[in-house]
Amino acid sequence: MLRGIYPGSFDPVTLGHMDIIKRGSHLVDELIVGVLCNNAKMPLFSVEERVKMLEEVTSDLPNVRIMPFDGLLVDFVKEMDAQVVIRGLRAITDFEYELQMAQTNYKLAPEVEYIFLPTNLQYSYLSSSMVKEVAAFGGDISQFVSEAVIDRIKERYREIKR
Ligand code: PNS
Repeated sequence: MLRGIYPGSFDPVTLGHMDIIKRGSHLVDELIVGVLCNNAKMPLFSVEERVKMLEEVTSDLPNVRIMPFDGLLVDFVKEMDAQVVIRGLRAITDFEYELQMAQTNYKLAPEVEYIFLPTNLQYSYLSSSMVKEVAAFGGDISQFVSEAVIDRIKERYREIKR
């Protein structure tokens, strides 16, 4: 049984993430999307909210499971009895950071392998930070995130402005 972990902050999940989840789910028997409880990064959504949104947008993918995690990625990979980590690469600028992270993790846990999937060209510019920036100023984010997520973001910014 090949189990993969797709880790990230997913604050919030974008169409680019969804594309990687779908394609990644075809490469392994089970794909666990690991949602980092990164309170230090001051996320817009709590980890519970991010997990819920991911569950909604992946409900049609039977071999995908969403789990929160804290601490080191390699510890989470071992805890989940997974063998590979999947990450998306949007551009060369992602590569340096991703390579450094993978190589650090390789030092910590040489048995864990990495699979890098090139992001679909359609989403190569897309990031959660950009989505939040556009949404914060009332812009149209319908090309960036799923409908369920649009409503949550709008609601969150309404709450913040109150
Ligand atoms: O979506 P992101 O924010 O680019 O995801 C980054 C993530 C969650 C993959 C990375 O920050 C991570 O793995 N954090 C867990 C802590 C860890 O293991 N750090 C050592 C890796 S160098």
